[in-house]
Amino acid sequence: MSQINSLEGQVALVTGSSSGIGAGVALALAQAGAKVVVNYAHSTKGAEKIVSKIVSLGGEAIAVQADVSQEEQVKAMFHKAITTYETVDILVNNAGLQKDFSLVDMSLEAWNKVIGINLTGQFLCAREAVKEFIRRGIVPERSSALGKIICMSSVHETIPWAGHCNYAASKGGVMMLMKSMAQELAPQKIRVNSIAPGAIKTPINKEAWDTPEAEEKLLELIPYKRVGEPDDIGKAAVWLASDASDYVNGLTLFVDGGMTLYPGFAGNG
Ligand SMILES: NC(=O)c1ccc[n+]([C@@H]2O[C@H](COP(=O)([O-])OP(=O)(O)OC[C@H]3O[C@@H](n4cnc5c(N)ncnc54)[C@H](OP(=O)(O)O)[C@@H]3O)[C@@H](O)[C@H]2O)c1
Repeated sequence: MSQINSLEGQVALVTGSSSGIGAGVALALAQAGAKVVVNYAHSTKGAEKIVSKIVSLGGEAIAVQADVSQEEQVKAMFHKAITTYETVDILVNNAGLQKDFSLVDMSLEAWNKVIGINLTGQFLCAREAVKEFIRRGIVPERSSALGKIICMSSVHETIPWAGHCNYAASKGGVMMLMKSMAQELAPQKIRVNSIAPGAIKTPINKEAWDTPEAEEKLLELIPYKRVGEPDDIGKAAVWLASDASDYVNGLTLFVDGGMTLYPGFAGNG
């Protein structure tokens, strides 16, 4: 009997999967049976390490360098993915970064950099993925959907974040990009959803968890009293990419140990 959350025979492209959450997602999708395109911008070694890990576990993967904020590089990345694996079934729009400044100290460059990668990059990759889904057509043996897009958002699509206006604005933008794409593409059987991680142990937020004092402070924001791991997001991505979630469209799935439950109000506010 085939497993409902199997990704056997499907091809997944995961942006920014040389590190952190993307690496965890790439590994989890490969373990569910997908061939994986491991995208990265700078960390060739990190990407090759994930590819080797997938191959050592019996899977298939290639590393492809591309800056997701650059239109021609995104097109070249999809071309490489399609010439290697024939198509793309799943896009995980994960690449992202922070450039933190108070509002008055934030340069236009820092603003544009974050919006360019975290938001415009998701648009550019989604557009290429959808073109490919339509070109390929539905393959019912592989999936009930024509294609699946998972956007990596953040709890900051809803929680304001002083000192991080560019980042919070990019994730608020991802929320409406995701919902608008989901509404537009649902009739074509393309599912678009987001994962909004809370605090996950990766290089992006190392200073928030790499000493016991920092971790204790961080845990005040997490009712479940555990800092997340990339694999927590990987498991959610497998579910959203598979037919197990076939009737789920336009959802932000918060994977945050309850961070969005206003923990400050737990003791009566
Ligand atoms: N960690 C958390 O607690 C947390 C919480 C909420 C949301 N998120 C989101 O999760 C995503 C991944 O973050 P992370 O924590 O895993 O950070 P990370 O470990 O720093 O990884 C970021 C990844 O993005 C890639 N990247 C950066 N700029 C890129 C570009 N222009 N084009 C292509 N790839 C690029 C990096 O590749 P190179 O190293 O090769 O540049 C790296 O693989 C981000 O969207 C972030 O906003 C993270």
